[in-house]
Amino acid sequence: MTVFNLGSINADLVYQVPRLPGPGETLASTGASRGLGGKGANMSVALARAGCHVVHIGAVGVDGAWAVERLLEYGVDTRFISTVDAPTGHAYIMVDDDGENAIVLFPGANLELSGDDINRALAGAISGDNFLMQNETNAQAESATRASALGMRIVYAAAPFDASAVMAVLPLLDILVLNAVEAAQLEEAIGHNIEALPVRDIVVTLGADGCRWINTDTGVMLDFPAIPVTPVDTTGAGDTFTGYLLAGLDRGMPMQQAIGLASRAAAIMVTRRGAADVIPDLKDIHNARL
Ligand code: RIB
Repeated sequence: MTVFNLGSINADLVYQVPRLPGPGETLASTGASRGLGGKGANMSVALARAGCHVVHIGAVGVDGAWAVERLLEYGVDTRFISTVDAPTGHAYIMVDDDGENAIVLFPGANLELSGDDINRALAGAISGDNFLMQNETNAQAESATRASALGMRIVYAAAPFDASAVMAVLPLLDILVLNAVEAAQLEEAIGHNIEALPVRDIVVTLGADGCRWINTDTGVMLDFPAIPVTPVDTTGAGDTFTGYLLAGLDRGMPMQQAIGLASRAAAIMVTRRGAADVIPDLKDIHNARL
């Protein structure tokens, strides 16, 4: 089946720093680079590298043709990426010597998607296809409503976290992916544990502690250990996890197996510097000694 991914596309401007600076501090970087990023684009590339047919629904400015070309080269269907009258989104990313990052986003074109563009893309969707979204574009709730009416599986990565954005789509979701901080923020916003959410499958990524899967239909809660690696850059690891998770499920894997695949992809990802440009493919995963 196809994955329709409503997602951001960013230019990532990455600065290597010995440590993340504090307020008012000026710190010299030890390296700088530019690459393709955006949570949405990263997930699309992960899906494509996992062998999925992925249609990216997004927007760039006239300065973003390179990003669309790169997505195409990486195997993503780019027919529904519009060029709008706003600069392409970009992210200033500082990565420290432990691989941790701090990110400042300029959303730009990512917030200029039109309902017509999204409807045109979803006109090609059929029941059983997947609709994936994150929280770096506009039009999530309307698009998910339409996708749900078409009988698509709705998958949401609640990042960057915004309680009202999550609440707006919660009743439509089949799968919710979030990290531990986002899970705590969501529990605070809803006033109860995430186990009681009306979402069939919830996957909470826990960084070096692995991840937890909660199936609210059966009440099953399973913990998966992390694969031990030495991180150099955690940027895009969560996006890689989500892309591979959905790719595995789309290929008919049971959740446990899809989480195993996604964990291996994310473990390789944190050993590489960059985002969309360095997401591993299935051969990398097969050959890795993890
Ligand atoms: O999740 C990592 C991504 O967040 C980066 O690629 C950056 O563009 C921001 O969207």
